[in-house]
Amino acid sequence: MVGSRRYDGSTIGRSTLEPVTLHVNGIERRLFVASHRTLLETLREDLGLTGTKHGCELGECGACTVLVDGVPILSCLALTLDADDAEIVTIEGVGSVGNPHPLQRSFADHGAAQCGYCTPAMVLTAKALLDRVPHPSDADITEAIAGNMCRCTGYLPIVRAIAAVAAGEAP
Ligand code: FES
Ligand code: FES
Repeated sequence: MVGSRRYDGSTIGRSTLEPVTLHVNGIERRLFVASHRTLLETLREDLGLTGTKHGCELGECGACTVLVDGVPILSCLALTLDADDAEIVTIEGVGSVGNPHPLQRSFADHGAAQCGYCTPAMVLTAKALLDRVPHPSDADITEAIAGNMCRCTGYLPIVRAIAAVAAGEAP
């Protein structure tokens, strides 16, 4: 027997909370989170930013995409503590019903948002692409959104909506 101290199970289900500072949509948010808490859980459940969608939680659907320091990441696979001090943008920081982003207007105009479940992630992914490549080809757009699943549109309306913004044709 190694040592004389027996584990009594008293720490099962407990975890230590650690401080983290997130900059979400331009607002500093200081929180205490468990080390295993995902960024998706923190955004939706702690900060009430439910525009970020909870899909597969397996890294396969892309619905949970947010921008971290300008890069699209899957928030269901990211630990909140790893985003300490990062700049995070969710769909709530991109536009609103009263003041939509050109991508949101274009998605509406092209029928690229149907049930809408994939739309926040698609818009954020498209925004990151256009910030990096202002005039992407259709192939660039298709590649950029390849990790974002859409069960409704067949993808072409989404590609057209993004291309229209890149071409300055968005309303
Ligand atoms: S919920 Fe994150 S990839 Fe599906
Ligand atoms: S619009 Fe329904 S999943 Fe894309």
